[in-house]
Amino acid sequence: MSKPTKWALLASGKGTILAAMLEQGLRPDVVLIDEECDAATIAADAGVEVLVRLREGKFDWNTGICDPDRVAYTTKLAKGLKSRNIDLVIMAGFMTVLAPDMFASDNFGGRTLNIHPALLPAFKGMYAVRDALAAGVKITGSTIHLATEKLDDGPIIDQAPVRVKPDDDEATLHERIKVEERRLYADVVKRILAGEIDLDPMWEKWIQAQS
Ligand code: GRF
Repeated sequence: MSKPTKWALLASGKGTILAAMLEQGLRPDVVLIDEECDAATIAADAGVEVLVRLREGKFDWNTGICDPDRVAYTTKLAKGLKSRNIDLVIMAGFMTVLAPDMFASDNFGGRTLNIHPALLPAFKGMYAVRDALAAGVKITGSTIHLATEKLDDGPIIDQAPVRVKPDDDEATLHERIKVEERRLYADVVKRILAGEIDLDPMWEKWIQAQS
């Protein structure tokens, strides 16, 4: 892949990562949301196009079951991004688990990033911060990786460690992780857009390792 030129940020939540990127002069070409959320307001206030792709059903994090319209939803989402010539997708707290099609190499495979609040491959899933606390680890953190059809899996691009304090609860620990995430994600996106990080070799190596 040549250096990406147009990028989208996908969000469902508070959008603090989006806000941090905007503050650092990183402006997505489009922000896509799957539910009404603060991220949409932050994008609109900054004059960034907001693409609304609402979801009626949700992924059930407890059972791992996705509602049946996930494939159609993913197709619709990818179409919206392609029609805007997006060639880099940044998931930042995006809560829809996309269908495998999204991560095909001729779709957005190798060009879709995710951020996870733990040092992968430890503590995958929805409750990464809670699980890290329960395990009693002394260091956890955040991981940015290329997303694949498997949840919280794929080549790791960068990580930031965060030390767990004895009196931490889930909220205090997650907030310190998020401080690191805002710095780390902006830094990684800048390096990709500048051509300093080449995603292609990572993706090719990953694909080869799967076959
Ligand atoms: C981050 O902790 C990220 O790791 C997780 O969702 C959170 C998003 O935060 N996937 P925000 O919505 O940008 O504040």
